[in-house]
Amino acid sequence: MQNIKHIIAVASGKGGVGKSTAAINLALSIKERELKVGILDADIYGPSVSLMLGVTQGIKPNVKEAKFFEPIIARGIKTMSMSYLISGSTPAVWRGPMASSALHQMMQQTLWGELDFLIVDLPPGTGDIHLTLSQKVKLVGAVIVTTPQDIALADVRKAIEMFGKVDVPIVGLIENMATFICNQCGCETKIFGSGGGEKLASEYGLPLLGTLPLESPSSTEVNIEDPQQMLIRSDAIVREFDKIVDGVLDHANRSRASDTEVVFE
Ligand SMILES: Nc1ncnc2c1ncn2[C@@H]1O[C@H](COP(=O)(O)OP(=O)(O)O)[C@@H](O)[C@H]1O
Ligand SMILES: [Mg+2]
Repeated sequence: MQNIKHIIAVASGKGGVGKSTAAINLALSIKERELKVGILDADIYGPSVSLMLGVTQGIKPNVKEAKFFEPIIARGIKTMSMSYLISGSTPAVWRGPMASSALHQMMQQTLWGELDFLIVDLPPGTGDIHLTLSQKVKLVGAVIVTTPQDIALADVRKAIEMFGKVDVPIVGLIENMATFICNQCGCETKIFGSGGGEKLASEYGLPLLGTLPLESPSSTEVNIEDPQQMLIRSDAIVREFDKIVDGVLDHANRSRASDTEVVFE
């Protein structure tokens, strides 16, 4: 835990906006810069990181010294998820009914080793888990994912404002499912209108890190039965994440100049 340079949370106002998709794409794109990355699936109620990364279902992390979990490595990324721990018989390290204590345990008791970035895929909304995380670890920043339809909604504003209250800087916004690229002719349609992400970003003085197209399932990489669990990572999305990673690295480097030590209370 002490060897993690930067912890970035990925959050959204509500579910289904592509938060996990964004968190995993971010992790993969950071990894492609030859940096060491881990991803913590903190979406206790709907963990999807392992499926999206194609981890064999039913796999359990090794337990060391009856207390620590070895992360499961998928596509070069160290992962830890509630989905590895909840089913079947799990060791006694896993106790406590509260979701926030579960998150804390996964964070603290995972043998992350040396990491440049730990990406935390948060549950949607602004609940206990978010507060616990913000209080227990020093987040270098939060990335907010939203879709164009949600931009006008209170949820996303609430998410932005919550991080402000707990002094977590916001790296910026990712607007997902913003445009549709026709796979017949390649033309791009802004199905929900345009400019929403920019407007929200400028309202809060935040960078718009990237705008992701709505892809058809044919562009998914992981071919599993449940299409809900496929990772969407098309060429267009990879290109956009290249830009997003620039924004994230920039933010991390700037905060590093001030202070970024990971501290526990
Ligand atoms: N840009 C996109 N184009 C097409 N489908 C997407 C896109 N982003 C996410 N999805 C799909 O939408 C669903 C919800 O995405 P997910 O990342 O699980 O959202 P969340 O974590 O916010 O609940 C998933 O089935 C995912 O594959
Ligand atoms: Mg999710």
